[in-house]
Amino acid sequence: MSTDTLPAMIHNGIVAMTEEQAAIVETARSFADEHVRPFAAQWDRDSHFEPSLIGRLGGLGFLGMLLPQEYDGLGLESMTYLLALEEIAAADASVAVMLSVHNSLPTVMLNRHGTAAQKRRFLAPLARGELLGAFALSEADAGSDASAIRCQAVRDGDDWVVNGSKAWITSGTHAGVVIAMIRTDTPSAPRKSKGISAFILTPDLPGFHVGKKEDKLGMRASPTVTLTFDNMRVPGDRLLGEEGMGFIYAMQSLEHGRLGIAAQAIGIARAAFEAAAAYANERKQFGTPIASFQGVQFKLADMATRITAARAMLHQTAAAKDRGVDVSAESSMCKLFASETAMWVTTQAIQVFGGYGYVKEYPVEKYFRDAKVTEIYEGTSEVQRIVIGRVVSEQAKR
Ligand code: CAA
Repeated sequence: MSTDTLPAMIHNGIVAMTEEQAAIVETARSFADEHVRPFAAQWDRDSHFEPSLIGRLGGLGFLGMLLPQEYDGLGLESMTYLLALEEIAAADASVAVMLSVHNSLPTVMLNRHGTAAQKRRFLAPLARGELLGAFALSEADAGSDASAIRCQAVRDGDDWVVNGSKAWITSGTHAGVVIAMIRTDTPSAPRKSKGISAFILTPDLPGFHVGKKEDKLGMRASPTVTLTFDNMRVPGDRLLGEEGMGFIYAMQSLEHGRLGIAAQAIGIARAAFEAAAAYANERKQFGTPIASFQGVQFKLADMATRITAARAMLHQTAAAKDRGVDVSAESSMCKLFASETAMWVTTQAIQVFGGYGYVKEYPVEKYFRDAKVTEIYEGTSEVQRIVIGRVVSEQAKR
């Protein structure tokens, strides 16, 4: 099997795409080839977020992939969006997470729960790339236990006054809109998940501060920051949806977000597989390409099999979601399986490269570093197992 056919086989060769999907995938691939892949290693080394990507992706419609056309979105189905996301992730996972968070979380939440005025004001600029979106749920002491957040909003006339901090905010340095989950109950009568509301924040609000950028193992071209709110005055019309519903909205959006992270993990795994398969055909030891050894072929076989399984699971779930089926457990299954696949495949890819896999001259160590966080953000693998476990044990009772 040649290195040319291997990637195609495990990529979209077995995915039956509509004309629209094929066109979007082709657009994503050409964009990645021209504007992302050639720069990814340097951005990673410099921990550099390339701001011109926002306008360029907006110009393609990729920042409004799931939004209706009336707000300048592309109005795509989840499946098409995820196919495009895999293409971008295979070029640079950092760019993919910016896209995934923006498209799956803040824009979807605004579109679902926003008033007509909120949608008019924010959705089209988000879709066109004039504003980048971020999502703020976690705090320093509330990660997996998301309903334990402490950031507090207190009513003051028509406004809210907010104090507290939000941690691990993807794209937080450049975000023009942040959908933040903030407590609106009173500390004397806490209501746990029912005491949380969603707010539409913008960096121009007095008291909104962008904190330090994290120095991360991977995804180094995606800026992750803490946001601090210091007596931040938020107008009453920035409450998103119903008061007290923020936790539920966040959980619903994460169902979609987790499909995006699964697509991202598959893109990383595929890139690592493609690099390992190509290298195994070039690298000679004992007088022959190492791809001729069964030990290496078996590794490639297992890598390709797991990637194909993760992709099949994701596409089946996306198709069900597009039909309106509740996929809360399946979305966690996709993220769990795809992220663990990415971690496993990237580890094997380093092994195929041997010593060369361990140095920065070759791309696989970056894939390995980037893969790790897919097992952590938008809910750790342990949280995904909690979500799946609760659903399947409930089903077993029936
Ligand atoms: N849809 C609708 N409602 C939901 C829901 C969903 N998917 N999930 C939970 N709810 C509801 C529950 O039904 C419950 O309502 P009732 O009280 O009326 O029954 C309420 O929300 C509370 O739910 P739980 O009791 O299940 O809450 P919990 O405290 O036990 O937590 C959890 C459950 C699954 C562990 C949740 O806290 C969780 O997902 N934690 C992980 C958080 C996470 O993923 N953070 C990622 C941060 S974002 C990020 O990483 C983005 C980035 O920038 C990359």
